[in-house]
Amino acid sequence: MATKKVVKKAAEPGDNIKTIGVLTSGGDAPGMNAVIRAVVRTALASGRKVKGIRRGYAGLLEEDIVDMNAKSVADIIQRGGTVLYTARCAEFMTAEGQDKGAAICKKHGIDAIVVIGGDGSFQGARKLAARGINTIGVPGTIDLDIACTDYTVGFDTAINTAMEAIDKVRDTSTSHERCSIIEVMGRHAGYIALWCGIANGAEDILLPERYEEGFEQRIIENIREKRKIGKKHHIIINAEGVGDSYEMAKRIEQATGMETRATIVGHIQRGGSPTCKDRVYASTMGAMAVDLLCKGKTNRLVAYKNGQFCDYDIEEALAMKKDLDEYMVQMSKRLSR
Ligand code: ADP
Ligand code: F6P
Repeated sequence: MATKKVVKKAAEPGDNIKTIGVLTSGGDAPGMNAVIRAVVRTALASGRKVKGIRRGYAGLLEEDIVDMNAKSVADIIQRGGTVLYTARCAEFMTAEGQDKGAAICKKHGIDAIVVIGGDGSFQGARKLAARGINTIGVPGTIDLDIACTDYTVGFDTAINTAMEAIDKVRDTSTSHERCSIIEVMGRHAGYIALWCGIANGAEDILLPERYEEGFEQRIIENIREKRKIGKKHHIIINAEGVGDSYEMAKRIEQATGMETRATIVGHIQRGGSPTCKDRVYASTMGAMAVDLLCKGKTNRLVAYKNGQFCDYDIEEALAMKKDLDEYMVQMSKRLSR
């Protein structure tokens, strides 16, 4: 009689991780749901349990924790926002809050956590890792301001949303021969502004990283020159934080005599159905986060660098610096003539 040979799976360093928690923290971003779905389904496929921690670190401290199965993440890949909700939590910035968070993880049998968020959220993740909870971060922010990665979940959707909105403003701006200042998000970073400035063919782009005294006077001169060569509109993309768009509009109108309006694109940039790229990259990063935990890795961030998915030590990643691509900045100026 033939006997069936049983092939025993080799032990992996992450075999002690039986339950993985997942949370979203900081500002939401389209594609976060795709990460959550990938985390849940990859973990279940590896034979582990998953717990969803709602409302970020605030929910962890309040023990707002739910069991998740494959069905919990059905029908969410195409939805913006985060089904786990998100929050900012001052208590978690304290050592007492972090001790309490780690103790709650242990109480609920959570051996490891995937943290989806930005640099602030990763600071929280490294504090949990130092307290014995294995943590992996996934970059989720529309701002693209995480140094170790060329891609963050939500950026692609946000720039496409903003681009469509700016196209609409441009139509009416041209009809009325106006100047339009359109303010986009990005906190202290100008990635959304730069990408939209290029994609929307803006005449001027204001970037926090390239802030220069006297920039408003240069814009005023640029408007005068462009009018001389017959341009009908003047589109200025303003990254939030460079200056108050409404006040700037008043000053520019007064100096140039060109009717000027300000539009703030606002929170619509944070919502909406994620693009194909955001869904696929977010799914890949969520799956990779679980794969890293299964290999026993902790205190790491999933990233996308130089065309490849990869991972970095959190400390190393948080110490990195990032700047706008100078070629893109210069090119945007040459193309706006
Ligand atoms: P993001 O993750 O998008 O950068 P925040 O900076 O608002 O967003 O951070 C999100 C949350 O991460 C904070 O509300 C806080 O709970 C936690 N956090 C931020 N910084 C730290 C820190 N230094 N130590 C511990 N937790 C932190
Ligand atoms: O970090 C994402 C972001 O949308 C930034 O671009 C913006 O400055 C900030 O969050 C807005 O935060 P809130 O939703 O709390 O107003």
